[in-house]
Amino acid sequence: MCGIVAYVGSKEAYPIIIEGLKRLEYRGYDSAGVSILNGTMNTFKCKGKVTDLEQVIVKEKIKGTAGMGHTRWATHGVPNNINAHPHLSGDGNLAIVHNGIIENYGTLRTALEKLGHSFVSDTDTEVLIHLIEEIRNTNDLSLEEATRRALQKVVGAYAIVVLDANDPDKIVGAKKSSPLVFGLGDGEYFLASDASPIVKYTDKVIYLEDEEVITIHRNGDYEIRTIENELTDPEVQQIDLNIEELEKGGYEHYMLKEIYQQPQTIAESMRGRLSADEGWAKLGGMEQHLTRFKNAKRIILTACGTSWHAAMIAEYLFEEFARIPTEVEYASEFRYRNPIITPDDVIIALSQSGETADTLAAVKLAKSKGAFIYGIVNNVGSTIPRTTDSGSYIHAGPEIGVASTKAFTSQLTVLTLMAIILGHLKGKISEGYYRQLLSELESVPSLVAKILAKADQIKYIAGEIRNTSNALYLGRGYNFPVALEGALKLKEISYIHAEGYPAAEMKHGPIALIDMYMPVVVIATNKSAHEKIVSNIQEVKARKGIVVAIVTEGDTRIKEMADFTIEIPYIEEPLSPLLSVIPLQLLSYYIAVMRGCNVDQPRNLAKSVTVE
Ligand code: M6R
Repeated sequence: MCGIVAYVGSKEAYPIIIEGLKRLEYRGYDSAGVSILNGTMNTFKCKGKVTDLEQVIVKEKIKGTAGMGHTRWATHGVPNNINAHPHLSGDGNLAIVHNGIIENYGTLRTALEKLGHSFVSDTDTEVLIHLIEEIRNTNDLSLEEATRRALQKVVGAYAIVVLDANDPDKIVGAKKSSPLVFGLGDGEYFLASDASPIVKYTDKVIYLEDEEVITIHRNGDYEIRTIENELTDPEVQQIDLNIEELEKGGYEHYMLKEIYQQPQTIAESMRGRLSADEGWAKLGGMEQHLTRFKNAKRIILTACGTSWHAAMIAEYLFEEFARIPTEVEYASEFRYRNPIITPDDVIIALSQSGETADTLAAVKLAKSKGAFIYGIVNNVGSTIPRTTDSGSYIHAGPEIGVASTKAFTSQLTVLTLMAIILGHLKGKISEGYYRQLLSELESVPSLVAKILAKADQIKYIAGEIRNTSNALYLGRGYNFPVALEGALKLKEISYIHAEGYPAAEMKHGPIALIDMYMPVVVIATNKSAHEKIVSNIQEVKARKGIVVAIVTEGDTRIKEMADFTIEIPYIEEPLSPLLSVIPLQLLSYYIAVMRGCNVDQPRNLAKSVTVE
């Protein structure tokens, strides 16, 4: 993971870099550092967050109009001051920041040590800057040429920026499997892990491709070459991102803002894509490939984390509406088990960030086997949508809280729409049901707003169970993946151990855990298996468990049995995850806040998992 930002222009670089690092902190936050060029390489770095870094800066030394910064999520070497980036070459003249992993760093390090290099950190990154230094000095090369040649020897993933103390008018960057965006401002130029540090200054960007090296000169000349030294002719793109979208907008945390944005973000993910009144639905990315979708013998969805939970719900949707056999794969497992993929399969890759390394690797593997790949991604211009054959953006806007919330509901909206379109196309759902589903989907934003209005009630329940060490989440059918998602939300931000289970599986083991201290969150909105869920709740109550039930409005039966109930509006069961997940997001949020946890930046996590 890690966030990178670099600047060369006419302004003071340090404030721009620090502000950029704060925007990129969602990518990692266990240490941070900057290097500013002003005749010498002035580097400051420390364990902790960007605000900690600000405390160790010596103001007089960070004046300069070129520099770079880094916020780290540790891979090689514990988070401490020494392992923090930037790392320096042996002579101290070159500095590097890096996002990724150099897999063959051990071999490279040994070879460099034999040549007399010595290292101060445990990182793979320090090895790379020494390698660049070695190649440069031995062959008397320019910085970009030495970087290019060094990268030919590297196995692994990288987005890097390299600076030379003796050339303050130039920055060099490169990428492979980790993102790097070049921003072209008015007399000022940027490199960053994503566009968020850049949008304040320019909307013109170039997304670097894998194995490309960029050299940017202060006068605005730039050149992009592959590591094989071929000159490229990249397209300058205009990005549509405004700075307010990157702010908390008056909310205490990004996560809360993003939960509350869902009526708008769900509406955004449907905008221009359906009209229940007129009886149509379409996704631009599917239009050109309808025959392929219609004739698909199988759909395989691949993703990680919360996106994987959305994929699991899609399995139910595609099979129910379109009657297409559907499988869901953890991207990390998919790529390592030689999967059978045929030309009749449609692969759907889901990712909020569009950068998740495991998902990207699964996409590349499926592509190498000739599969048709459809991406469902939030982050516009990220790597996955540039690697897939077609796809749909979910248009949820920047999601900055590490715990995914609005991206999940927008992914579900798009997946539900896909399943409805396919069911209609294949004649598997009646015209009447098709229109009803479209109409109910259109009503989701207002129903979500109604649930959000119950925040105080959910906060109260959070206060009642906040001190638990464990929690169980149970759901059936469409709500089983919602139970998994609820449990993931709780564990990742509050550090409470939580498990999601299909409700009926409880009696096959987890029931042994239930006692008077165990909160059991039951998502009990299903009409189809209502009796069975009632029985499951009784089984929990018989063992004195604390039941928090999410029920459909008017369900008095469960209300009488449960310790706490949260009522949500009725909706057709296949669409119910779009509603039932909302109280679970709020419940986790309030519990985590009450426990004093950093909900936007939970320990050990990062938003974009760009390492495998
Ligand atoms: O960006 P992606 O959707 O590919 O990310 C996948 C997971 O890393 C992500 O959903 C993660 O599990 C979140 N922290 C969950 O809230």
